[in-house]
Amino acid sequence: MNDAVRRAVAILRAGGLVVFPTETVYGLGADASNPDAIERLYAAKRRPADHPVIVHFADARRAFGWAREVPEAAHRLAARFWPGPLTMILKRAPQVGDYVTGGQDTVGLRVPSHPVARELLEQFGGGVAAPSANVFGRVSPTSAAHVREDLGAEADCVLEGGSSEVGIESTIVDLSGAAPALLRPGHVRAEQLEAVLGCRLGAKAAVSPRHPGGLERHYAPRTPAILVAPHALDARIAQLGARVAVLAFSRPDEPVACWVRMPREPAAYAQRLYSALREMDAARCETILIESPPESPDWAAVLDRLRRAAGSG
Ligand code: TXA
Ligand code: MG
Repeated sequence: MNDAVRRAVAILRAGGLVVFPTETVYGLGADASNPDAIERLYAAKRRPADHPVIVHFADARRAFGWAREVPEAAHRLAARFWPGPLTMILKRAPQVGDYVTGGQDTVGLRVPSHPVARELLEQFGGGVAAPSANVFGRVSPTSAAHVREDLGAEADCVLEGGSSEVGIESTIVDLSGAAPALLRPGHVRAEQLEAVLGCRLGAKAAVSPRHPGGLERHYAPRTPAILVAPHALDARIAQLGARVAVLAFSRPDEPVACWVRMPREPAAYAQRLYSALREMDAARCETILIESPPESPDWAAVLDRLRRAAGSG
């Protein structure tokens, strides 16, 4: 076993906090069966106590041990998408404490595919509660360097794992109700889930702080951001003047203080998005203008994060 992973496992067993890479974003992990460790985790993230965390496992068998009912649909989704960037919400098993579920009767379960995460979870054996390793409400980290800028000092150890391949948080599907519902779009698209489930997904329920749709300015850069239609971009730059940062598919005609060119393909765009938002924040402009991508299903996850970054989620 890798020495760094061995150390991280010992830290988890002792109730400490470990940052680890996943294919989506980096997570700040703690032993999900240790209430004191979870309390430390919430304090480090400055996260409200009623906001539930996702619990990560090495495989579906262990993950489903935390649910009291595992519908056939969950087995089918696990077979197709785990390990990978999908989180399932199921009814929690009796041993699952309020401290990981924010007091809800459900629990979020995920089996990540990143090799370092897999090794960590395999050696640890149990569930690792892990929100994204950023201060609550801020842009998620997609590299160990991002974590160090943000809350690295709060963790007892940071495992390196390169740039996260997916770059945005996992898709969340709720299987605890009468019909499956999509709570957060991600790399695994709604149509892919529907194809396996054999039914349409419901939309998330009314806005509640309990799930990621509930907080408007989530995943937000510090600089105010605005989404702009492609044809309106140059006029908007001219109107705002000098200190503007632009995230766009091509170079604006107007001169700008900071410009980041984004890929035209949604998966590549998602992979790049959070580091681009961090670069734009670092440029200390007054406004970030984001050229809107197309409104098509393959851009749904990126559009969701952009709307949240702009505070219009
Ligand atoms: O890709 C990811 O999912 C990353 C990596 C580290 O795995 N984790 C992540 O965690 O994004 P976090 O805590 O930043 O976001 C998890 C979201 C929260 O907004 C939370 O509300 C929702 O999952 N969630 C967790 N358990 C839930 C539950 N029982 N019911 C509804 N939503 C839940
Ligand atoms: Mg997060």
